[in-house]
Amino acid sequence: MQTYLKIVLTSILLIILQHVTRVVYLLGFHKHVYNHEPGPCKYMDGIEFGSEDIATLPDGKAFITSGIVMPTSSSLFRQVYAEKKAKGQIFFFDFKSSESGVAPLTIQGDFNASDFYPHGIDYWQDKTSGKVFIFVVNHRRQFDAVEKFEFVPSDKSLKHVRSYVDPAIYFINDVAVTGENSFYFTNFQSSRSQTWAALEIYLMLQLGSISYFDGKHYETVAEGYMLPNGLALSLDKRHLYMASTLIGAIRVFRREENAGQLTFVQEVKLNTSPDNPTINPLTGHLLVGAQPIIIKTAHTLENPRLPSPAQVLHFEVNDDGTLSKIKEPYLNDGSVLWSSSVASLYDNKMLIGTVVHKLLLCEVRAF
Ligand SMILES: *[C@@H]1O[C@H](CO)[C@@H](O)[C@H](O)[C@H]1NC(C)=O
Repeated sequence: MQTYLKIVLTSILLIILQHVTRVVYLLGFHKHVYNHEPGPCKYMDGIEFGSEDIATLPDGKAFITSGIVMPTSSSLFRQVYAEKKAKGQIFFFDFKSSESGVAPLTIQGDFNASDFYPHGIDYWQDKTSGKVFIFVVNHRRQFDAVEKFEFVPSDKSLKHVRSYVDPAIYFINDVAVTGENSFYFTNFQSSRSQTWAALEIYLMLQLGSISYFDGKHYETVAEGYMLPNGLALSLDKRHLYMASTLIGAIRVFRREENAGQLTFVQEVKLNTSPDNPTINPLTGHLLVGAQPIIIKTAHTLENPRLPSPAQVLHFEVNDDGTLSKIKEPYLNDGSVLWSSSVASLYDNKMLIGTVVHKLLLCEVRAF
């Protein structure tokens, strides 16, 4: 009996030890980064508290979310947010006139701008009318929603069209739009509660999922992921890319004809924490903003005055949707840019966005 007990206790201890070792390893304490950039880079004036996600149209117009507050954000985070007079906004940038810089878009219509904490973003362009619709993840104070806006180019504003609110949308991160009224979204964690969300991370529970709204119904189409983060659709919209933070992977899915159904195609392991993937609208290749030392990003998210490293990875997208030839156009130790969450490459210019820091524009000469 005693031997039996010893075996059981030793096994439990080993399992705990293995789990703790894995978490410590994934947090990246042992990692170091060396700086490099693809050409000269400069900050875009006007963005001081985040440029978490970027949606870039084929004509070079880009929409940038700024001023995120997560339901799980710490009280210190909220204090710094208030001190810096940060607020939820969508910024506009045109790659074809980059010297004009970025400017916030005004929002019209029946929309509560003081309950706007934007996170993931994507767009839909109607082929016949040319109208552009912007879909944005919003962590409202009471619940999460997807907000739909119409871009009004004449006065550079966004007209609020509708809010998607449903029990299927509980703690979401990003959207990938497939039509004027249909989209994929990731449920990042199973609960907006701070305690439960932290426990979910430390126990490494795989409670995240991808869901689809087809215009009428919400359906979970892939589940069992840990912290499923950003989404991107291939240029032909036949493949979906999902970044998994912490475990450090990008998953590739093929979209089936039948509504939003997904078939798993490939997993690319990265040894870094990818945040938002984007597709270069001119080449169809994929970029991802990443956080190479996730424990330092955790510090920045706890206290947005603390720096953390930034990284951008570039992947070639093959004809069958799979990813290959990983390159690293940008890496910084936090002396310039903190916790990059997204990058968008258009011609020879690249925007690099961050969770709670600035926005960088780099000339891309070589990488
Ligand atoms: C707007 O949102 C804020 C924050 O949640 C809330 O206090 C306020 O009552 C809302 N205003 C309206 C008109 O709903």
